[in-house]
Amino acid sequence: MKKSSLLFTAELPRLSDLGEELLLIYDEVLPKKSPAFKKWMKQFSLSYAVRAGEQLKSVDQFPAHISKIVQLCENTSSRRLTLVVAGGGSVGDFGGFVASILKRGVKLVQMPSTWLSAIDSAHGGKTALNVGSAKNQIGTFYPADKIVLVKSLLIAQPEARAFEGFGELLKISWIAGGPLWSKFAKEFEVSSATLWKYLASSVAAKNKVVAQDPEEKSGHRHILNLGHTMGHVLESYYKLPHGVAINYGLDFALRWSVEKKIMSAAEYEKIQRAPVAGYLLSPLRDDLLQTKPSLLKDFRRLLLSDKKKTKSETLRFVFLKKPGHCVIREVTVDEVLMEVCRQKEEELNG
Ligand SMILES: NC(=O)c1ccc[n+]([C@@H]2O[C@H](COP(=O)([O-])OP(=O)(O)OC[C@H]3O[C@@H](n4cnc5c(N)ncnc54)[C@H](O)[C@@H]3O)[C@@H](O)[C@H]2O)c1
Ligand SMILES: [Zn+2]
Repeated sequence: MKKSSLLFTAELPRLSDLGEELLLIYDEVLPKKSPAFKKWMKQFSLSYAVRAGEQLKSVDQFPAHISKIVQLCENTSSRRLTLVVAGGGSVGDFGGFVASILKRGVKLVQMPSTWLSAIDSAHGGKTALNVGSAKNQIGTFYPADKIVLVKSLLIAQPEARAFEGFGELLKISWIAGGPLWSKFAKEFEVSSATLWKYLASSVAAKNKVVAQDPEEKSGHRHILNLGHTMGHVLESYYKLPHGVAINYGLDFALRWSVEKKIMSAAEYEKIQRAPVAGYLLSPLRDDLLQTKPSLLKDFRRLLLSDKKKTKSETLRFVFLKKPGHCVIREVTVDEVLMEVCRQKEEELNG
């Protein structure tokens, strides 16, 4: 798989650094949020504004979008055209997909504008559309030629967003272990500035995993789902922001890893003592794992609808032995639900 080049920059890049003939696809909120972006985007002769969110990725809406985009670039040459995609993960998934099929594939620059997209979704080359309520059912592997990480654009997000980005950063630092985790573990404060500080090493850590299994054939790339099995359930059930739900999902995965004796109690204690663990959310502490019968029924439905499930009632759960060492085990949906009950019991019994 092609390697994307990375550009870390304080300010928005010069257009001449992005390509020859450019089409900008951008989240319509960006010019409203950032006067600098508004000024910058005026330099593009071709641009297309979109509204971010899952609707943008809906396959039903796609024909209308692609017709307009084809019209916009009717006088451009497929060889010279570069799509510049500025926005969060939904815009990135949509724009990446467009680049992969437009004129049988054109050059692509991703410029992520949310922490989630900067840390995670812009890297690794996955593009996606949704079919009905089923997320990411259609897509391509199409790594960007270039990914531009703009400090001023990312830092301008509300501080609450930094907390959402924290979940993904914690995930990748546990997957990577080594210096990324040992440095990040010592942070007492998580802010936009902290996320920017660790952005380059977290992207490198994701790319290292992707490079071993670029098109999800060997299964290794699945470790990037650490915290996401229960995270997705809690995200849907409690309508939580993705990064917050992943933060909870990581705590669930950690406790289950100890219960299964994949992680030692001493390792667990060490993680809990790290200053940054003060930001780790627990679904138990916040009472998200009530064991009433309807909750388990709803969790079962959500677990089964998660696209990561393999055979009918089993899924591949990512456990953590220690930072830097994930273990994938096939588990049944019932085992996940039993662990929900066990964690709750353990909490009740102190
Ligand atoms: N391709 C992948 O590998 C991958 C991985 C993880 C997630 N995803 C996808 O990413 C999407 C979620 O990403 P997201 O949370 O970035 O979603 P998003 O694109 O929907 O953005 C979230 C919100 O932030 C707003 N926004 C964007 N930039 C902003 C800025 N600079 N300041 C203020 N507001 C801003 C958007 O308008 C939107 O309301 C999902 O569709 C998910 O499936 C893809
Ligand atoms: Zn995620």
